[in-house]
Amino acid sequence: MFAETLNLTQSKDSATLIKRMYIESYGCQMNFSDSEIVTSILEKEGYTNTNEIEHADLVLINTCSIREKAEQTTRKRLEYFNSIKNKKNKNMIVGVLGCMAERLKKRFLDEEKLVDLVVGPDSYRDLPLLLQQVNDGKKAINVFLSLEETYADIKPTRLMKNGVTAFVSITRGCDNMCSFCVVPFTRGRERSRNPKSIINECKDLLDNGYKEVTLLGQNVDSYLWYGGGAKKDFNKASKDQKESSINFAQLLEMIAKIDIKLRIRFSTSNPQDMSIEVIKIISKYKNICNYIHLPVQSGSSNILKLMNRGYSREDYINLIDQIKKEIPDCAISMDMITGFCSETEEDHQETLTLMDYVKYDYGYMFKYSERPNTTAEKKLTDNIPENIKQRRLTEIINKQSQHSLENMQKKVGKIYEVLIERTSKKSKEYFFGRTTHNSSVVFEKGDAKIGDYVMVKVENCTSATLFGKIISYEHTTS
Ligand code: SAH
Ligand code: F3S
Repeated sequence: MFAETLNLTQSKDSATLIKRMYIESYGCQMNFSDSEIVTSILEKEGYTNTNEIEHADLVLINTCSIREKAEQTTRKRLEYFNSIKNKKNKNMIVGVLGCMAERLKKRFLDEEKLVDLVVGPDSYRDLPLLLQQVNDGKKAINVFLSLEETYADIKPTRLMKNGVTAFVSITRGCDNMCSFCVVPFTRGRERSRNPKSIINECKDLLDNGYKEVTLLGQNVDSYLWYGGGAKKDFNKASKDQKESSINFAQLLEMIAKIDIKLRIRFSTSNPQDMSIEVIKIISKYKNICNYIHLPVQSGSSNILKLMNRGYSREDYINLIDQIKKEIPDCAISMDMITGFCSETEEDHQETLTLMDYVKYDYGYMFKYSERPNTTAEKKLTDNIPENIKQRRLTEIINKQSQHSLENMQKKVGKIYEVLIERTSKKSKEYFFGRTTHNSSVVFEKGDAKIGDYVMVKVENCTSATLFGKIISYEHTTS
C-alpha cells in the first residue's frame, strides 16, 4: 500500500504507477538466464522487481518440462499464486513462461484456468503487448517458436546478484532430438547468437566488476554463427557467410582474449558435438576453466542408440581419453538417466563400469520420466518398474558420491586459485568461492574481498566442499 504511493511517478498528463513484478524460475540455467531477459523487457514497461508475491501486480513463473516432477512443482506453485490472488490481491496477473507454456499452450488457459498469460521461450518481446491484452480483460498467449530469436540486443537485468558470476546465453533451442527429451519441442530449432553481441555482453560484465561468465546453450559445442538464423539452414548460406562463419572453438578463443581476469565456463556440451579444436582451446587459455560438463546418459551402447544420442560407449570413452590427454587436470561431470526403456541389468552394469572408468567429479542423476510426444513416448515402452529405476538410481548415486569424495580428497594439501563469489552461508567469517574445476571452497576471509582471486591451500574436504586457507592474494596469469 505504501509502496504504491512511493512508486508514483509524476508526469503532467498522467500519473503512472510503477508496477511490481515477481518472477520465479525453475529448471536449467537457461531458464534463469531467460528470466533476466524477461525482467529487462518488463523494466522498460515500468515494472520493478519485488520479492513479495502479495504485493505484486504481475507474478511470472518460468517453467521446466524436462521431467514430470518439474511440471507438478509448477502446478503446485500456480495453485498457491491463485490462492493469494483470490484472497488478497484480486488484480494480480499470473503468467506462465518457458517450456511448460510452450508444451501446454492454450490448454493452460482453457482447461486449467490458473493463469492469465502464457508465453513461450521465443515470445518474450511480445510481453508488453500481451500484458496490454490482459489489462483489456482478455487472456493472452504467444507460443510461436522462432528460427531467429536470440534476444541478442537485450541487456539482461542480473537477478543473481553476487556481482561476480553471470550467465551469457550463446545458443537457443536444440536440434539433437534425443528420444527421451522434450526440449526440441519446447525450445524449438537451434540458432546461434551474433558473436559481437556476446563479446560486448562479456566486456560490459567485466567493466561492471564481473569476473566469470558461463556461456549457455542446450548444446554449446554446436554453436555456429554464419549471419543467418537456424543452424539447420546453414547449407543454404552464401559462400561468404560460410567462409566467415564462427564455430564454438573460435568463439571461446575470442572471449578468452578479452581479459585474463575474466574466467569462462560453458554448459552444456553434447559428446556428439564436442571437437578436438574446443578441447585444445580450453587447454591453451588459462582463463577457460578446466571443467567440462559432458552428459553421457548411459554407459551402454544399446541404450545410447535407443536414446538417439549419436555416440556409442566407445566414442564417449575416446572423447574422455582425448580430454585427459590434452587437459590432464580437467574436471568432468555428467548427467545420467536410469531405467530408460528396456534397460537391462547388463546395461546398468555398463553404466557403473563407465563411471568407474571416468571417475566423474560431479554427477546429476535422474530416473527416466516419459515425456509426451517424444520419440521414446511414441515408439518405445517405459517398461522398467519404478522400484528398479529407483534401485539403479541409488546405486549410481552411491558410486558417484564415492568418486566425488575420492576426487576431492586428492585435492587436500594442494594450492588452487579461487574466485571469491560471496560470504559462506554457514559463517560470515568465511568466504565461498570456486576453483577452475568448479569445486566449492570455503575459507577464512582474511584481507580478501568478493570478486578477488586468491590462492588457497586445501586442508580438508567433504565430497562437496573443500576447506582451506588463503596463502596469497595474487592473481596468476600463467
Ligand atoms: N542439452 C543437454 C541436456 C539438457 S536436459 C545434453 O546435452 O544432454 C538436462 C538433463 O535432464 C539431461 O542431460 C538428462 O540427463 C535429463 N533428462 C532429460 N530428459 C529426461 C527425461 N525424459 N527423463 C529423465 N531425465 C531427463
Ligand atoms: Fe535434450 Fe538431447 Fe538437446 S538431451 S536438450 S535433445 S542434446
